[in-house]
Amino acid sequence: MEWKPDFELGLPPMDETHREFVGMLNELASCAEGEFVGLLERLVAHTVTHFEQEATWMHACGFPPMRCHVGEHERVLKVVSEVLARVRTGDLELGRRLIAELPHWFEHHAATMDRALAGYIRSTGYRAQAATTPALQPAAASS
Ligand SMILES: [Fe+2]
Ligand SMILES: [Fe+2]
Repeated sequence: MEWKPDFELGLPPMDETHREFVGMLNELASCAEGEFVGLLERLVAHTVTHFEQEATWMHACGFPPMRCHVGEHERVLKVVSEVLARVRTGDLELGRRLIAELPHWFEHHAATMDRALAGYIRSTGYRAQAATTPALQPAAASS
């Protein structure tokens, strides 16, 4: 999946997190079998922080459709967590299918819900800060 100029939503910490997300999807799309579970675990941890970060901003600036946006995050996180559990038991094929589908979800979500959130945050003047939890830090070493 290529990073597109359209993905830039004008909110640097959000754009940075999205760039990391796309980078992780690409690693998962081309990794060796033995690396898949570890990389998927890292993607799930990153996604938890990604969504928490957006929820924190929504809450802080009173984003009106917060429930809708958070609900969508919860549905996606449930799916990726369930797939991770299946991958851990050996169903790599399901994991590969998830990784093939997530770019479509991301493109749509970024173009709609995240774009609306970024625009709203900018309109309020709220200074969105990046989360500093370990999940969003670059991996110390990829093996
Ligand atoms: Fe996002
Ligand atoms: Fe979002």
